[in-house]
Amino acid sequence: MSFDHTHLLGIEPLAAHDITTILDLADQYADRGRSAAKHGDALAGLTQINMFFESSTRTQASFELAGKRLGADVMSMAMQASSIKKGETLIDTAMTLNAMHPDLLVVRHPHSGAVDLLAEKVNCAVLNAGDGRHEHPTQALLDALTIRRAKGRLHRLNIAICGDIAHSRVARSNIILLGKMENRIRLIGPPTLMPAGIAEFGVEVYDDMKKGLEGVDVVMMLRLQRERMDGGFIPSEREYYHRYGLDAEKLAHAAPDAIVMHPGPMNRGVEIDGELADDLRRSVIQQQVEMGVAVRMAAMDLLARNLRARQTSKAVMA
Ligand code: NCD
Repeated sequence: MSFDHTHLLGIEPLAAHDITTILDLADQYADRGRSAAKHGDALAGLTQINMFFESSTRTQASFELAGKRLGADVMSMAMQASSIKKGETLIDTAMTLNAMHPDLLVVRHPHSGAVDLLAEKVNCAVLNAGDGRHEHPTQALLDALTIRRAKGRLHRLNIAICGDIAHSRVARSNIILLGKMENRIRLIGPPTLMPAGIAEFGVEVYDDMKKGLEGVDVVMMLRLQRERMDGGFIPSEREYYHRYGLDAEKLAHAAPDAIVMHPGPMNRGVEIDGELADDLRRSVIQQQVEMGVAVRMAAMDLLARNLRARQTSKAVMA
């Protein structure tokens, strides 16, 4: 099992075999998570600090649980909105924490690139839990594991990512990951919510749900990220739901066994019909949450192995 990385800052730096390594280990953790013996000791003796400069429910809880299940000392800092000041403040906070010798630092920040910057300043493993509209690697990995378990493979699938692509780090990390694993990706949404230069990513772009969903194996819905919008991107929520909201009628254009995904938090009646989201024959939204814990356990386990190996080689050299 080789995973030659110090941090998990994005999907971009990962090779296809790194992705497979994480998913294979996560698969084992997912099976263990369903048994009575959930605990392991891969992170025993290590300190994990979660720094969320942006609110989060499932990601923060998931990282916390993952660390605890593997025996780490876990501390979650409540970073108030008032502490969000660019540059120096972030680095100062990081340096203060660094002085406490954490081994794993899990960071979410509203600015794209902030987590990469922080990783340069500290000497522990840094995991990106979402930075601006840049990347959210563990989300893409948990989505990949959910797809692989539901479809039996993670290549040559037709996958539609729908909605607010422009403001979504989830979309970005997924496009990169699913592309590396050789899937066909379609992006569906209003032109105002498509990022500029998207054609370079080797994806097909649609602004019509029914056409875009034709025959796809996976339908990934995204939330309208209003907190990142600085103007009127959509006419009204009603109109948006009518054109882009996923309901049974639009889903009927996808493959008969297509699965429905959503990273959460969901806005029922805006991007997705509530009943469809709860329909366990089609929706794998709860599995995504379950796989989240497993993927984060696997990612932290692999980074910790490298951390321990570096510490051992340092000790030998000294
Ligand atoms: C996503 C995020 O924060 O980027 N949520 C998550 O991590 N589960 C998506 C979103 O906020 O819409």
